[in-house]
Amino acid sequence: MKKILVINGPNLNMLKVRDAKNYGNQTLAEIENLIKNRFKEFNFEFFQSNHEGYIIDKIHEAFKFDALVINPGAFTHTSIAIRDALELLPIIKVEVHLSNLKAREEFRRVNVISDVVDNSFMGKHSESYLEAMEFIRKKLKLL
Ligand code: DQA
Repeated sequence: MKKILVINGPNLNMLKVRDAKNYGNQTLAEIENLIKNRFKEFNFEFFQSNHEGYIIDKIHEAFKFDALVINPGAFTHTSIAIRDALELLPIIKVEVHLSNLKAREEFRRVNVISDVVDNSFMGKHSESYLEAMEFIRKKLKLL
């Protein structure tokens, strides 16, 4: 069974308390269950942290996975360290955002992650994660 790591960054443990217009009205656990139930052919590990260093440590462990889905939260706009960790990781990597970064504040248009991942999906709340998994499924079939 192919192994998929799903990393969620800061404040994503607070979904449902956060603004539903941008982030939808599901908890992170509900989104994780949705992914697991929709893509039963994969073995998932889910990880959430509010700490940049813990996220980097987890990316370093991701060598043993077949693909990584990551929502780096606000670190998307600031973290060269997470970018560097992603850049050196030789597996399929997909960035996800619940909200549409292009339709929000100017500072969310700065993205230091997108050019070191294979694809980005955003703006469709939990559906963005499912689109990322569809992309990974197709890509793994081609390998
Ligand atoms: C987010 C978008 C980021 O700008 C924000 O800081 C988040 C969540 C999203 O999923 O839409 O925490 O990554």
